[in-house]
Formats: sequence, structure tokens, C-alpha cells
Amino acid sequence: QRFRLRFARTTLFVVLTATGAFVYFSQKDLYPGEQLDQDPKKKTVVVLGNGWGSTSFLKSLDNEEYNVVVVSPRNYFLFSPLLPSVTVGTLEARSIIQPTRYITRHKKRKCAVYEAEATDIDPVKKTVTFRDASETNDTHKEVTIPYDYLVYGVGAENQTFGIKGVKEHGCFLKELKDADRIRRKLLDCLETASFTGQSEEEINRLMHMVVVGGGPTGVEYAGELHDFLIDDLRKWYPEIADKLRITLIEALPNVLPAFSKQLIEYTESTFRSNKIDVMTRTAVKDVGEKSVIVQDANKNTHEIPYGLLVWATGNTARELSRKLMGKLPEQQTNRRGITTDEHLRVAGAPEIFALGDAVAGQYAPTAQVASQQGTWLARTLVKMAQAEKLKEELNQLRATNADPADVERVVKKLNRAADVPSFTYSHQGSLAYIGSEKAIADLPFFNGSFSSGGVATMLFWRSAYISSLYSLRNRTLVMADWAKVKLFGRDVSRE
Ligand code: FAD
Ligand code: NAI
Repeated sequence: QRFRLRFARTTLFVVLTATGAFVYFSQKDLYPGEQLDQDPKKKTVVVLGNGWGSTSFLKSLDNEEYNVVVVSPRNYFLFSPLLPSVTVGTLEARSIIQPTRYITRHKKRKCAVYEAEATDIDPVKKTVTFRDASETNDTHKEVTIPYDYLVYGVGAENQTFGIKGVKEHGCFLKELKDADRIRRKLLDCLETASFTGQSEEEINRLMHMVVVGGGPTGVEYAGELHDFLIDDLRKWYPEIADKLRITLIEALPNVLPAFSKQLIEYTESTFRSNKIDVMTRTAVKDVGEKSVIVQDANKNTHEIPYGLLVWATGNTARELSRKLMGKLPEQQTNRRGITTDEHLRVAGAPEIFALGDAVAGQYAPTAQVASQQGTWLARTLVKMAQAEKLKEELNQLRATNADPADVERVVKKLNRAADVPSFTYSHQGSLAYIGSEKAIADLPFFNGSFSSGGVATMLFWRSAYISSLYSLRNRTLVMADWAKVKLFGRDVSRE
């Protein structure tokens, strides 16, 4: 009896404490405190983009010494690793985004946030021009502002290799609107295939989902699509569900070239048992409205009809990056993207710091690299501001013939602040979800590569992403979405 009472009391205590902590942290986010005003005497840092690189910079920056201006065509941060889950409704779009104003409202000094697209950068005059794409704004659309430092985190564009028809008929998977488009198109294929009197041939075409590119994006999408088929399609579209086919087309001899051999084999065998058709050594050469032309290893061409085409063949430099590189022709010679030094300074324009996918350097275009660069840059700019202040202090001390011991103390501090180590990347491992509650992980443990796959890895995958989601709000929404799907299945209504 006494034990039960004690157990009940402890449980109540734990529940109340957890609820209290939850309420405290959620309210802390909702009611940010007072902020310092922008100060014309401070330097201006213009931040382009609010993806992984720029957001991690904003989050880590102590902006007391800077006026910060953020310019990006979207007004939120997107947690891209969970984007494939949005394409089939495992997660809702709003669960994996965080408005940038939530982030800037928590900074020490007020930041300006503009939902606009940067269209030009003048590295000599140190100005950036941006344009508001909103249809509501028809008077004051384009603005040019000066910067002291520019943080260049505009990411990259989808690579098409100039293949005809990709942009018109394929669906990319980079932004939220892409995931939404895929979801609509998928449901459109299902509803149209279910329409009365459709021919067998047309049903087979509509029910053929083709994914081009066997990198992590293509693999994760194929895995999510398979889950949708098994968990929901068979229940809600029983008459056509078994006609759904998924084909993954990859030009190289295997999928996931950046992962270890063991994980490649594990993924390919999981796909085989999930009836996902993997066509390796096959390159898409042409894209039509209803079919793609592929070339196999023997140089034979085939036509493959499709209902939905998802195009995931990697990145290429954005037009803005090409324009900037064109202004620095001697230093910017890599066509894949911006060249920087080891302090992330753009070659030829040292007041511009570039990070993430916009940079063509030694690192892979991943969120991990971009966010580590953002954090490093934030610390570096704080050190640079400290060094500036100490230089002023030193000049004053010298001008007033101060005590040499005081001068020596400031010189030491200045040397420490001016000593900025170069950026170094620490790889934490790679994870990917491959469907049917399985994930793969390439982890750099024990001086080598540790690989694992299976349900335990899947739980690890989920907890790793939950812990790296931006806010408590995101974590709560994502966990609620997972629970909702377990209880009620995915929503197949098309808005
Ligand atoms: P982005 O995050 O792409 O951000 C670019 C920003 O620039 C955006 O805010 C955009 O709106 C803005 N912008 C664009 N044009 C302009 C302009 N003209 N002016 C101003 N702003 C502009 N990586 C991992 O490490 N792990 C993963 O699990 C993983 N999963 C992924 C899943 C998917 C589906 C995708 C597509 C990518 C995934 N990645 C993953 C890769 C990762 O998302 C990128 O490497 C990362 O987003 C790069 O960060 P970034 O800041 O350079 O660019
Ligand atoms: P990717 O560049 O990694 O892979 C693209 C694939 O498409 C390549 O294997 C290429 O051979 C293939 N391809 C190119 N043209 C083709 C054609 N015409 N026909 C058939 N195949 C063709 O691109 P992805 O997957 O978009 O990833 C981009 C970056 O984002 C990578 O650095 C990746 O590591 C990162 N990412 C990481 C994830 C993770 O860690 N879970 C998830 C998604 C992306």
C-alpha cells in the first residue's frame, strides 16, 4: 500500500515537473525580452539566405556589436532532412519550419528581416541589391543597401545538366513548395488512375513513380513512397494500390556513392525486397510530359512511361553566385560555386563570407557542413569586433602615454582576439531513412566507419533528428505528426 502511494506521488511529481518545464520553455519562446535598437555607429552585417548556414550563423551570433539585416525570399528556416517525409504526408509542412523572426526576436540587438531575393552584389562598392517578389508590393520593390560584412548563404539550385523537359515536367525536392507539389501530383495520379473507364495502359503509367538520382534525396524519397504504399494506399485505394511501381534511376553503378559499401548493399537489398526497382548504370537523357528516355550501360535507349517524376540529381550554382563570380573573374574560376579561403572569405572579396552549398570547396554540400560554418563564422565575427574595440583602446592608451603594464595587458588581449583559427569541419556521420522503418548510418566511431541499419538505427535516426530540430515547437509538432500517422494513417485528401 505504502509503496503504491509513494510510486503514485513520484509519478505525479515527474509529470508535473515535465509539464512545468514544457510550459516554461514554450512560453520563453513566445515572449522574447526587450532588444537594443540598431546603432548607426556599429558595423552592418547583411545575411543572405536563412537556410542551414545563415540560420546557424544568426543563432550563434552575439550581435551586440553589429546591426544585422537578413534578406531571403522565404521568411522561415526549413529543416531539410525531414522534407522527404512531407511529400507523402508523414509530416506536415509547418512542423519542420521555423519563422526567421522567432530567431531574430531573441537576439540582443534588433535585426531587420526582409522577405526578398538578392539580385546583385557589388563587391567593390560593398552593396547588395534585393527585390521584393510580393505582388502586393507594387511601388517600392528594389532596394540597394551597403554592408560592412556580407554573409553569403544562398545555397544552390537543382542540377538538371541542361536535360530537356526536366524543369517543365519533373518535380524537384529542395523547398517546401516542392514537397507540396509532389504530394499533390502523387494524389492526382492516384485519383486519375481510379477514375472510371481508364485504360489498363494509362493506369499503369499513372501508377509508375520514377525517381531520378540515387543520392540520399532520391533514396529517402523512394523509401517514404514505399511506406505510403504499404501503410495507406492499400487501405484507401485497394483497387489500384498493387499497380503502384517505384523505379529509382541512377547513372552510376550503385546508389548512395558517398556511403560505405556495406550500407549500399543493405539499401539495395532492402529496396529489392520492398519491390523498388533500382536501375543503375542508367542515365536519363530526355524528359517528356509522360515518359523519360534513358540510356543503359550498353548505350541502348528505352522509353519509360511515368505518372510522377521526381528529379534529384544534386546541386549547381545559383544565378546570383554566377553573377558574383563573373565580377571576380581572376579569383573565381570554379564553375561549381564560390571559392573561399580557409576563413570562409570569398576569394577576391574578403568582406564577403560564403558558406554551405553556395561554396565549391573540399566539403560535401550538407547541412552539417553549412551549420558548422555558420557557428564558426558567428564566433569569428564576435572576435573581430573584440579586436576592433581593443585596437581603439590601445590607440587611446598610447595617445595618453598610459602605464606600460596596461598597454601590455591590452596588447595580449588583442593578440588573442586577432588570432582566428581557420575553419575545420568535424564529421558527425551520415544518416538516411530508406523506408519500412529502416535507416542507415555511417558513423565515424572507433577511428573508422561504423555502419548500421535496421529498426534500432531507425529509432536512432528519429531521435537524432528530434534533438537537432530547431525548437521545442518543432519537436512537439514532429512527434505529434508521427503519433498521428501511427494512430490514423496518412491523410490522402488533396487540398
Ligand atoms: P540552404 O539551406 O539551401 O539555404 C539557402 C537559403 O538561401 C534559403 O533560405 C533560400 O531561400 C535563400 N536564397 C536563395 N536564393 C536567394 C537569393 N537570391 N537571395 C537571398 N537568399 C536566397 N544534409 C545533411 O547534412 N543531412 C541530411 O539529412 C540532409 N537531408 C537533406 C534532405 C533533402 C531533401 C535535401 C534537399 C537536402 C538535404 N541535406 C542534408 C542537404 C542540406 O539541406 C544542405 O546541404 C543545406 O541546406 C545547405 O545549407 P545552405 O545554408 O547552404 O543552403
Ligand atoms: P547527389 O549529388 O548526392 O546525388 C545525385 C545522383 O544523381 C548522383 O548519384 C548522380 O550519379 C545521379 N545522376 C545525375 N544525373 C543523372 C541522370 N541523368 N540520370 C540518372 N542519374 C543521375 O544529390 P542529392 O541526393 O540531391 O544530395 C545533394 C546533397 O545533399 C548531397 O551532398 C547529400 O549528401 C546531401 N543530402 C544528404 C542527406 C542525408 O544525409 N540523409 C539527404 C539528402 C541530401
